[in-house]
Amino acid sequence: DALPLRAVRGEILHFLSDPAEHGAAAWQHFGDGILAIRDGCVAELGPAQDMLAKLPSDIALDDHRGKLVLPGFVDTHIHYAQTDIIASHGEQLLAWLEKYTFPAEARFADPVHAAATADFFCDELLRNGTTTAMAFATVHAASAEALFAAALRRRMRLITGKVLMDRNCPEELRDTAQAGDAESRALIARWHGRERLLYAVTPRFAGTSTRGQMQRAGRLFAEHPDLHLQSHLAENRGEVEWIARLYPEARSYLDVYDRFGQLGERSIYAHCIWLDRADRERMAATGSAMSFCPSSNLFLGSGLFDLAQARALGVRVGIGTDVGAGTSFSMLQTLGDAYKVLQLAGQRLSAASAFHLATLGGARSLYLDGRIGNFLPGREADFVVLDPQATPLMARRMAGCASLDERLFVLMMLGDDRAVAATHVMGEPAWRRGAPPPD
Ligand code: GUN
Ligand code: ZN
Repeated sequence: DALPLRAVRGEILHFLSDPAEHGAAAWQHFGDGILAIRDGCVAELGPAQDMLAKLPSDIALDDHRGKLVLPGFVDTHIHYAQTDIIASHGEQLLAWLEKYTFPAEARFADPVHAAATADFFCDELLRNGTTTAMAFATVHAASAEALFAAALRRRMRLITGKVLMDRNCPEELRDTAQAGDAESRALIARWHGRERLLYAVTPRFAGTSTRGQMQRAGRLFAEHPDLHLQSHLAENRGEVEWIARLYPEARSYLDVYDRFGQLGERSIYAHCIWLDRADRERMAATGSAMSFCPSSNLFLGSGLFDLAQARALGVRVGIGTDVGAGTSFSMLQTLGDAYKVLQLAGQRLSAASAFHLATLGGARSLYLDGRIGNFLPGREADFVVLDPQATPLMARRMAGCASLDERLFVLMMLGDDRAVAATHVMGEPAWRRGAPPPD
C-alpha cells in the first residue's frame, strides 16, 4: 500500500451534499484538519491529531494553519476571449455584443494573440482559486486549441469549445453550419478526454445560429454520450423578444433549444432569467443545468435570477463569473453579487449554500461531481487556501465572527483575489500569493 505523497494542514471545509436540502449534515468541517494526497487525488481527510498519528513523519506537509482549505472553485460560465473587454461601459446585452464583444473576439483569428490571452486567462483563474472552468472560446477553432493547450500545461480541468455562429454577426466571425460541424468534430477527436480536458458543443445562442446549424449542433451533442453543450438562454428582455421573432414556431426561448435536441445531461445554459415555470420544469426533467451569473446580470442590467424556483423544481445550478460581462474573475466576489441579486429578488442565500454552489454544486451542474467538487477519497485534489485575514478590514471583521457561517459570509462579501493564499491543482502548487507564477 503506497503512502500518501503530500498533505495539507489547515481548517478544512467541504460539502457532501446541498446545505439547502440537508443543513449542517451537508458539510464536513475540521478546525484543524489534514488532507492527504496520493498521485494527485485525495487519499484521506481527517482531524490533524488522528492523521498525524498515521502519516509518515517525513511526509511533505503544507502547513496552512489559520487558513481555510476548500475544494477548488468551479466557474461554470466564462469567456476567455472577453478578458480584454472586462469593464466596458454603458450597454445592455445586444448592443454590448456589437460594440465590444465581437470586435474583441475578431482578434482571435490571430493564434499568437489567442495563445497569449489563454495563458493570462488560466493564470488569472488560478490566482482566484478557480481550478475548473467551463469557458467559451471564439468561432476560430485555433482559439479553442489555444485554451486547451494552456489548460493542459497547468493540468487544469477545463471544458471549452469552438463557438458556432453562422448568422447575425460580423462576417469575419461567421462560420457555416457545415464548417462549424467539421471543425467541432476535429477538435473533439484531438482534445475531448485528453488528460482533464473536455469538449463542449458551443452554439453561442439561438440568435446567431441558423436552423441548419442548430440542428447539427444537437445531432453532434447526441452522437457522443459524454460531450458537454454550452449556450446562453433568456438573459435579457430584448434578446428574448428577438428570439421569439426568429423562431415563431417555438413555445419559448428554451423550447428552441429543446426542438434542436440541445437539452439534456451535461448541457449548461448561462443566465436563465426570463423563463417560466414550464421552462424550469423542462430543464429539471432533462437534466439540463443553469449557470447563475450574478455579476454579469447586474453589470448588463439583465435581471434577477430565480434561485428559489430553480431549487424547488430540482434544476441543477452552478455559478458563473461570465467575464467579460461579469466584472470579476473572483468566485468570492461573484458569490457576494449572488447574495445581492437574491436580496433584490426577496430571496436568501446562506454562506454555506454559496460555497456549495461554488464547489460541489458547480461540479454537479457539470456532471463532474464524481471527480471534483469535494474531498472524498479518490477525488482529484484541486484545492484553494483562503486567508481570512487577507486585508486589514477582513482581519478586523473576522475578529467579531462567532461561527464558521459568519466567517464564510465575510469571506464572500469582502474577499477577492487577495484572499487566495494558494491554489493547488492535482495536489501540486499552481499559485501561491507572493511567489512568482510558475512558468
Ligand atoms: N449571449 C450571447 N453571447 C453572449 C456573450 O458573449 N455574453 C453574454 N453575457 N451573453 C451572451
Ligand atoms: Zn456568457
